[in-house]
Amino acid sequence: MKTIGVLTSGGDAPGMNAAVRAVVRSGVSKGLKVMGIRRGFNGLIHGDIFEMNLRSVSNTIQRGGTMLYTARCPEFRTQEGIQKAADTCKYFGIEGIVVIGGDGSFRGAKDLSAAGIPCVGIPGTIDNDIACCDKTIGYDTAMNTIISMVDKIRDTSESHDRCSVVEVMGRRAGYLALNAGIAVGATSILIPEMEFDFERDVISRIKRTQTTGKRDFIIMVAEGVVLDNKMSIEEMTKKIEEETGVETRHTVLGHVQRGGSPSAYDRVLGSKMGYRAVELLEQGEGSRVVAIKKEEIVDYDIVEALDMKKEINPRIYQMAYDISI
Ligand code: F6P
Repeated sequence: MKTIGVLTSGGDAPGMNAAVRAVVRSGVSKGLKVMGIRRGFNGLIHGDIFEMNLRSVSNTIQRGGTMLYTARCPEFRTQEGIQKAADTCKYFGIEGIVVIGGDGSFRGAKDLSAAGIPCVGIPGTIDNDIACCDKTIGYDTAMNTIISMVDKIRDTSESHDRCSVVEVMGRRAGYLALNAGIAVGATSILIPEMEFDFERDVISRIKRTQTTGKRDFIIMVAEGVVLDNKMSIEEMTKKIEEETGVETRHTVLGHVQRGGSPSAYDRVLGSKMGYRAVELLEQGEGSRVVAIKKEEIVDYDIVEALDMKKEINPRIYQMAYDISI
């Protein structure tokens, strides 16, 4: 293999730049030509591609977002789009690609591998919803951003004896809500993976906790719950205020969670994964996903990885409830 490409796709995640940097630096050190592909699979379809060198990635490890830009690319879900991308690879001499993104991006990587361009996926998403991987790039930083924001909300909530309903990202996954909820001491945590009853799990919990003298509350809600449950964050807020008598406000943290300088953990994780991805391509291994399991860097067949299911540990969910009284 003489030329490889690297792209970031789907929602950006802090630490993606560390992974890009490691791909470029280790690729160049091994004598490979490394091509940067802008805006994910879009750039591959439209030929938005440039050669990278050691200096292209200087001073990027500390930056949030992705220096390669990113996009979600519906055209790549068609056979025609995949073929166009494979043709672009042939035109630029790209023989293998490192795809940094979430499960949607891995589906693209799988299809492109099947079309003759070996791809290695690196899990980069703040949602932490890649089943083969204990922690995805960006998750740690997003968690830290959430807890620093909710700590600030807590200050004002406590001053006013209020309840704050906080919505965090996670369209299909509740890892951010659950673990950030534990970290900020939320009274209730609502996530898409777990059934809940609003009366029992929110209203009654607040009332019970009030009887022990508590006067301010954080209710952590994953975005997916709001989308699934047909109960808006405004309705939740109103219901809490009406039924408990506690003045209630809500905050949707939004895209602030996806930005910012990556944590130490995400910088190191991105670097390790980028380095391993290039090793795999160099060894002729395509159709793989790099992951971290029990702090070891490992890799899986991309089809197997996509078939795996990641489940919330019910004991951790129970623990969160038991200790937040
Ligand atoms: O997949 C990561 C994620 O941040 C989800 O948690 C969220 O639902 C989604 O991206 C938001 O995507 P967009 O930035 O396209 O609105």
